Amino acid sequence: MNEKPVKSILFVCLGNICRSPLAEGVFRAVLAERGVEAEFVVDSAGTGGWHAGSAPDPRSIAIAAQYGVDITAQQARKVVPADFERFDLILGMDRSNVDDLKASAPAKAAGRVELFLGHATGRTRDVPDPYYGGDDGFAAVYRMIREASEALADRLASRESALRSGQASSTT
Ligand code: 4NP
Repeated sequence: MNEKPVKSILFVCLGNICRSPLAEGVFRAVLAERGVEAEFVVDSAGTGGWHAGSAPDPRSIAIAAQYGVDITAQQARKVVPADFERFDLILGMDRSNVDDLKASAPAKAAGRVELFLGHATGRTRDVPDPYYGGDDGFAAVYRMIREASEALADRLASRESALRSGQASSTT
């Protein structure tokens, strides 16, 4: 097990315009609500680069705005090799994102690649790609991402406190 606290998280989907920008924005908002935003580096990227430089999809912007989260400043980018060094945790939105990431990750970083919902909630479920669907799909994706972001923040906080108490007892 990695004994370092997780301080940097990269959310990854296919295009980095629908799901992972929402995850980045919503997870940042959850951290801000808890007053711990400054302790984390949070970013998002796509396994594909077709939309590099673009703002998030207007449907992702709209559903985020409905819940008070502004993701308009984000710009899509493709995952780069340095991401596997830079991030403690790399969370794919669906199993094909995870497979693609694992295929390109150096062996020592493969353990840091996980399925977002699986890692956050313990349930092995994809955040489905809403790109070709309607607004309902974006609303469902938002709800899944919000719930998983809360669960991820809980998980990171309890892990951090377990590491701290472990350190405290090992130094006494
Ligand atoms: P995302 O959605 O992976 O959630 O950003 C998609 C965006 C674009 C495409 C596919 C999925 N596309 O094929 O262009």
